[in-house]
Amino acid sequence: MIKPIIAYGNPVLRKVAQPIDASYPQLKELVASMFETMEASDGVGLAAPQIGLAIRLFVIDASSMSEDYPEAQDFKRAFINPRIVEEKGEEWYFNEGCLSVPGIREDVSRKSIVVLEYYDESFTKKTEEFTGICARVIQHEYDHLEGKLFVDRVNPLKKRLLQGRLQNIEKGKVPVQYKIKFYNP
Ligand code: NI
Repeated sequence: MIKPIIAYGNPVLRKVAQPIDASYPQLKELVASMFETMEASDGVGLAAPQIGLAIRLFVIDASSMSEDYPEAQDFKRAFINPRIVEEKGEEWYFNEGCLSVPGIREDVSRKSIVVLEYYDESFTKKTEEFTGICARVIQHEYDHLEGKLFVDRVNPLKKRLLQGRLQNIEKGKVPVQYKIKFYNP
C-alpha cells in the first residue's frame, strides 16, 4: 500500500527512532509497503519516520543509479535496527535531496565508507562495508532514524537562506508529484 510521505515540519521527523524486534506487527507488509511508497515517489531510500513511524527501519533501492555508480547495481534491501560501526575514507560532496523536503537539493559532505551492522527482513544479523553511493544513501537514511535531515548538514549561512523555502514546505506551498502529508497546510 502506498503511504503518504511525511513532509518537513512534522515532529516525527525529529524523533530518535526506536529499535524493533521480530515480533513487530506485520513487518513484512510494512517493508513491502515502504518499497512500494518509495518506488511510487521515485526515491532511492525511505526511512520509517517518513511514513510517520519512529522505528529503526529503512529501505533502499539505488539500482537506478548503477549507470553512474556501478556499486549501486542490485543494491535493493531493507535495513532493520542498523548501527554504524565505523565511518571512514575521504569526505566527498554529493547533491542530496529528500522525499520529505521536496524541491530542495544541497551538496552534503560525508565520509565515503560505512561499516554497518543491521538485521535483514528475516532478522538475520549482518555486518557489511558499503562504499560510494551505497554508503551515501545509507548515511542519509540513517540520519532519519536519529531525527536528522540533510538540510541540517549544510553550513549555517546556507541553512539560513533555506529557511523561507523550508517554511513553505511546512505550509504545503510547494508542488509535489507524489502523495505527501504536509504538517501545517
Ligand atoms: Ni531523506
